[in-house]
Amino acid sequence: MKSRIYMAPMEGLTDYTFRRAYEATFGKGRVDKYFTPFISPNQSENFLAREIRDIDSEHNKGTNVVVQVMTNEPKDFIWTAKMLHEKYGYSEINLNAGCPSGTVVSKDKGSGMLRDAEKLDRFLDAVFEDTFIQNNIKVSVKTRIGVENDENFPDIMDVYNRYPLEELIVHPRVRTDYYRNDLHLDAFRYAVENSTNPLVLNGDIFTRKNYIEMRHKFPEVHTFMLGRGLIADPGLIDVLVSEEPESFVRDLDSDKKRMKELHNLVYADRVSIMPGDTHAIHRMKEMWCYMEYVFDDCKKEIKAIKKSQRMEDYKAAVDVFFNRAKLAERENIIFSKKF
Ligand SMILES: Cc1cc2nc3c(=O)[nH]c(=O)nc-3n(C[C@H](O)[C@H](O)[C@H](O)COP(=O)(O)O)c2cc1C
Repeated sequence: MKSRIYMAPMEGLTDYTFRRAYEATFGKGRVDKYFTPFISPNQSENFLAREIRDIDSEHNKGTNVVVQVMTNEPKDFIWTAKMLHEKYGYSEINLNAGCPSGTVVSKDKGSGMLRDAEKLDRFLDAVFEDTFIQNNIKVSVKTRIGVENDENFPDIMDVYNRYPLEELIVHPRVRTDYYRNDLHLDAFRYAVENSTNPLVLNGDIFTRKNYIEMRHKFPEVHTFMLGRGLIADPGLIDVLVSEEPESFVRDLDSDKKRMKELHNLVYADRVSIMPGDTHAIHRMKEMWCYMEYVFDDCKKEIKAIKKSQRMEDYKAAVDVFFNRAKLAERENIIFSKKF
């Protein structure tokens, strides 16, 4: 059975510039949902310019986009959903219950929402009680499995099971894992056996081998969300959606060409919206922190990209990189970047 594939929300990486470039070069109608990095509703009941750019329907044409919202205030979730629906045409909103960042968790947002299952219950209760939400909005949740440990995950699952979620996307790590450490697959197994809502698995699918293993471990799960794996190796999508992922033969030369195209589209968009050289280049370097893992013979070339400060140097270094480096399909990837 073919899987459904989602692109994960990644702040600083999967903004609309990346999503639409990805869709044009690799996605081609095969990414079932693209999730925006989180929008954080503020007191002024309006969105930031950056947020508006990201959700603007002109920038998201031809892709199925779900907007992610991070708040622990039901009223903020509701006005945001209303505005996203009425002004921007969205009808599916995802709640962020996973962000591990200290400043977020200290305010009981993101994965901080998992600290108190009763409070989480009250939040969801108020959201699902709202008639506008009931009539117009599909609500999904992207969650971790706990804050310091996964002991309370059954309580958290009990809460989710009380609501008709569009789906429950589980990243089976606790907050203190950040993006490191092994996935808590026992907890995910618990979710598979106990969730009354459709489940999506998110986490550490970076290669064909990782994907095949997860499909074998969880044959009940048909939807997978990928973040770092699709940034590092965008061509992996061809394997993920193929009828036979084990034997699918990739054309790595064509993938490398398409990666260059993807890169150039993202770069052109970012340069056009970001003032000065530094900001756009900095954001492009974030992408390279993942992409560098799927190329051989490129240490020197990658160094030159990372060192570049001015656009001319950056562009020249990228050209040299794509001329020399060799794309390789990995069995395993270990991202060393600290988060
Ligand atoms: C740099 C970075 C930014 C992220 N931003 C978000 C975000 O805005 N919202 C969210 O729910 N998760 C965010 N995540 C988590 C990813 O969506 C995903 O859950 C995580 O990377 C695990 O999936 P992966 O192993 O396929 O990358 C972020 C992760 C990283 C590394």
